Amino acid sequence: KVYTDYFFDEPAYNVHDGGYVPLKKAAAAPSQLRIPPLLKPDKETRSDTYYTVTAQAGETQFLPGEKTKTWGFGLPFLGKTIIFEKGKSVHINLQNKLSELTTFHWHGLNVSGPIVDGGCHAPVYPAETNKIAFKVDQPAATLWLHAHPCPSTAEQVWKGLAAMVIVKDKAESKLPFPRKYGVDDIPLILQDRKFHAHNQLDYNADYDPDGVQGPTAVINGTVNPYFDVTTQRVRFRILNGANRREWRLHFSDDLQFTQIGSDGGILPEPVAFTHLMLTCAERAEIIVDFGKYHPGDEVTLYTDDVPLVTFKIHEFEPAEVKLPEHLAEIPNPEVTPDTPIHRVVMSGMDEEVMLDGKKFDMQRIDAKQKIGSVELWDIVNTNQKEGGMVHPYHMHGIQFLVVSRNGHAPYPNEHGFKDTVGVNPRETVRLKVWYDKPGVFMYHCHIIEHEDGGMMAQIEAYDPKHPQTYKLMDMETL
Ligand code: C2O
Ligand code: CU
Ligand code: CU
Repeated sequence: KVYTDYFFDEPAYNVHDGGYVPLKKAAAAPSQLRIPPLLKPDKETRSDTYYTVTAQAGETQFLPGEKTKTWGFGLPFLGKTIIFEKGKSVHINLQNKLSELTTFHWHGLNVSGPIVDGGCHAPVYPAETNKIAFKVDQPAATLWLHAHPCPSTAEQVWKGLAAMVIVKDKAESKLPFPRKYGVDDIPLILQDRKFHAHNQLDYNADYDPDGVQGPTAVINGTVNPYFDVTTQRVRFRILNGANRREWRLHFSDDLQFTQIGSDGGILPEPVAFTHLMLTCAERAEIIVDFGKYHPGDEVTLYTDDVPLVTFKIHEFEPAEVKLPEHLAEIPNPEVTPDTPIHRVVMSGMDEEVMLDGKKFDMQRIDAKQKIGSVELWDIVNTNQKEGGMVHPYHMHGIQFLVVSRNGHAPYPNEHGFKDTVGVNPRETVRLKVWYDKPGVFMYHCHIIEHEDGGMMAQIEAYDPKHPQTYKLMDMETL
């Protein structure tokens, strides 16, 4: 079966917002898609890997003429791709060379909170370096790193503080997937920006409490990119790294593709699509088979009707690969009629956004859940069907399972681990949630301006045998 629709509620698409900024083709010559280089470890042993990640300012050539002042992790814009191997211990120096504080949040990584997780309680001040260490303890997946200093996450991500993180493991390495980074295993970080006078970003000028958007698509930091296809099959790790924009992806000729992974790892079964919508912070790993094309042909990836990337087909070796019907084992812990149901309500739009009727407070712990205990979480979006928004709901520190949408089966690509799920207006999405690392963790809407605007709360995952106290930041101590 090939799925040909986007699944989410059309009346809630961002195109209907008053503040919607349509994408326009940029006045820039096509240029080769930037592939972020891999971050090299400082040191590596059989069991441990040591990295330094540096938040820094730089300049990026997006458009002809003046360069744009940007921020990045070890690069002028975005960051080097970081690879973690399951089972290894990782040690990271988090270095801040910016002129303001930032944090290093590992979105999707199964680590303790709030310090290793890197949300707003883990500031790294200018000219300082903090150290974190953790064991990589989750299946192969496409995750990301981004700044998370509340309430300026959105502005720092807009300036460029985001990077792709890839977890590898043995199970994934046995599957017949392309995995030559930069050749047939390609990150696609989808973002949009507005360039003002002298090609500069101006977050405050573009501010919209429902999420900042720009008319220019920027893919891996490239405006108007093309990619040279030199293999029949290419795997794309697609990340919606935009502050607010939804991407409704499809290829020219309605070329079919196969989704093999979602936020938290490989799907139990491959799912064939012609159209795929990603809400903010969601990831999809897809494999595209260019087998029916010939050297000189071009294939285009679109969002709605706007071209994003042109794929130039070159000579390649034929590679007929049939994916197994079953890809990965996803644990599915039992629930009983006594399983607690935790309700989360996302309400409002613009400055009115709230979570459970409240604005985020860094000092307030809104919920507790015991390590290892499984709960059902009902995530409710109370927006109106007409004129409401799809709110992408995200939880730190874990991967969850999507049980149902308004009592119905989740979408066909929601049967694997996820950490972000788009919730339609008037919808209740039921999740299965368990923590296995202690800490204080945020959960929030991932339209980043909604998160900064207070549509966020935090939970303590606790181990009754090892009670802990946490030093929670507040705006003043920052
Ligand atoms: Cu992408 Cu609070 O995170
Ligand atoms: Cu996160
Ligand atoms: Cu929202």
